[in-house]
Amino acid sequence: MTPNELFEHRGYLADERKIAAYQAALDEVVGPDDTVLDLGAGTGILGLLACRAGAGHVIAVDQGDIIDVARDIAVANGLADRITHVKAMSTDLELDDPVDVVVCDQIGGLVHDAGVLSAFADARRRLLADGGRMVPESFRVFVAPVGFGIGRQAVDFWRSAPAGFDVTAARRIAANTEWKFNVVTDDLTALAAPSELAAFPADHEGRITGALDFEVETTGTLDGWLGWFEARLSPSVTLTNDPWSPERFDRWCNFYALEEAVEVAAGDRLSLTLDLRPKGGVVSWTTGLRDGERRFKQSTFFTATRSDLFGHAAPVASGDRIPAMRRVLDLIDGQRSLADILTALGEPAELGFASRNAMEAFVEKVTGLAG
Ligand SMILES: C[S@@+](CC[C@H](N)C(=O)[O-])C[C@H]1O[C@@H](n2cnc3c(N)ncnc32)[C@H](O)[C@@H]1O
Repeated sequence: MTPNELFEHRGYLADERKIAAYQAALDEVVGPDDTVLDLGAGTGILGLLACRAGAGHVIAVDQGDIIDVARDIAVANGLADRITHVKAMSTDLELDDPVDVVVCDQIGGLVHDAGVLSAFADARRRLLADGGRMVPESFRVFVAPVGFGIGRQAVDFWRSAPAGFDVTAARRIAANTEWKFNVVTDDLTALAAPSELAAFPADHEGRITGALDFEVETTGTLDGWLGWFEARLSPSVTLTNDPWSPERFDRWCNFYALEEAVEVAAGDRLSLTLDLRPKGGVVSWTTGLRDGERRFKQSTFFTATRSDLFGHAAPVASGDRIPAMRRVLDLIDGQRSLADILTALGEPAELGFASRNAMEAFVEKVTGLAG
């Protein structure tokens, strides 16, 4: 275990709002003698809280060396006989009996970007009893158009010619990145009231997408879009990383920069389509300014490497297929059918395909991954 990891876990333990919310939720959800799976246990804190809430048994699973520390902590607190520690990915965990409750804190700034959704989907299928409960049970995600100096710098630094060198080659990547920031509100201005983009259960595996319209309320600079979540931990407990909430807990927010900062005035209309595809790891956002007068279409797909998209599994496309792949992704908008996409792509030869069949097979693979 590295000092950085220990530092990170100290942060989770020191976050009193998070701890209080999880304790209240587990008090509400855990029944006497329930077995609780502490998924991504870290120091084991959520399992300890579950014991305090009356759990009969806790299975704490973490893929990292921190699990050895969790075991020592359980011993020091007299709970060694109630908690079983397993060093493994939860997806590799095999249990003789299903658990009654699964609890986890692996939540990204806009939920999808840390792992809770796929881990819970797997747990629901293989590890959780019928009628078993998930903590958190569901999420709502919110977005607001913002002026955000630190976020803007993440993109525009690459125009600044450090040491006199042109580094603008990196700017395209920076503008098409899902940034994560521990936001300070001094540096942040909401230009319009936030809107709810989507709501979904905590084991949701598919696309998360929404189209929103905003009317600017505060004249200022639009640097991009800030996203955050509200987790429903239990029927009466929620937890949020909303940067303006006095109840916020310590979790980053996600920032989707606008390609260029744009001045907007009160009364201007803005639109946003945000499309998160957790399976392929692709995030796309399209901004419309002043009723469609200007449009910015951005996506992590534009700059992703093949290993970002496909890991080390056999890629569906070699390097010279990347432009075709971007065209296909651009055409997937929830409206077009496969046939529409094929028609819009035009002649196979122009995209380097030997035949229409080859192009069709390729499009099917990409749409399957993206969907
Ligand atoms: C955000 S930390 C939270 C730790 C702890 N639950 C807490 O509240 O302090 C997430 C931990 O989950 C582990 N982890 C993430 N996904 C996992 C998975 N699918 N299976 C096992 N461990 C996982 C990481 O190694 C990390 O220690």
